[in-house]
Amino acid sequence: MIKKGIILAGGNGTRMSPLTKAVNKQLLPIYDKPLIFYSLSILMLSKIKEVLIIVNKVQLEQYKKIIPDGNNLGMKISYKEQEKPNGLPEAFIIGETFIKKDNVALILGDNFLLLECKNLKSGAKVVLHKANKPELYGVAQLKNNKISIIKEKPKKFISDKAITGLYFFDNNVVKLSKKLKKSKRNELEITDLLKIYKKQNKLRFKELGRGAVWLDTGSIEDFYNASSFVSTIENRQGIKIACLEEISLNNNWISKKELNQSIKFYGNCKYSNYLKTFL
Ligand code: TTP
Repeated sequence: MIKKGIILAGGNGTRMSPLTKAVNKQLLPIYDKPLIFYSLSILMLSKIKEVLIIVNKVQLEQYKKIIPDGNNLGMKISYKEQEKPNGLPEAFIIGETFIKKDNVALILGDNFLLLECKNLKSGAKVVLHKANKPELYGVAQLKNNKISIIKEKPKKFISDKAITGLYFFDNNVVKLSKKLKKSKRNELEITDLLKIYKKQNKLRFKELGRGAVWLDTGSIEDFYNASSFVSTIENRQGIKIACLEEISLNNNWISKKELNQSIKFYGNCKYSNYLKTFL
């Protein structure tokens, strides 16, 4: 079982400038809560209690204001800084002392997914979702129910199965990430890491069907679309997506005492009113 998860929540958010000049993208709102709540909620729904959040230098304090240490969620949440966006596999190098001897899940802080993930035995697992514009993502071509080719942002069509920003790795990932060389765009590439697992016949996948949701949050239009999706569901059904305290309560990680503390922490707002319905 995977007990540890890393959220990679750095990045420059260049496509969303000027919004991201002073505030990191993952702290901007998707409807009624910061974007990072959605990736954190995916880990929590997978019963991952120990989380490392990797943020840009000097942005730590902003993050801690909204997600301090996990106590209010019955979790252990810690932070580390990334000097600059050197690529996704750097998460495993920065996170080495957090991962220790365990397996680990990685989710990009800007991924909006609605699903629950399963246990990992060994090797690596990626989550695939059909995309209209596969050239924007890392994609996987499948053959005989196995991944046959992986390519980062392919210019020529090879498959419409995009690799989402949720990954599961065994403990070898730290060692393997350290051996990676930077690509032409001067980043460590997650596709290079996945190719190593594939070569060792240890790369698995989970394909999301029509019922699952995976939304982009790279551009301002994406933000509006995702916000409108959340607003529609929440207002129609009277439930909240990615309400962290609700998930903790359902996981039996917190009691009503901690819930009350969260209500005080958030203050007089709709989010608190929603939390009050669980008291
Ligand atoms: P990107 O899409 O590469 O970057 P970005 O979202 O900051 O946007 P832009 O291209 O407009 O500058 O990254 C995807 C996510 O991963 C995003 O949440 C930032 C995060 N990330 C890191 O935290 N560190 C890294 O080294 C990289 C490459 C990404």
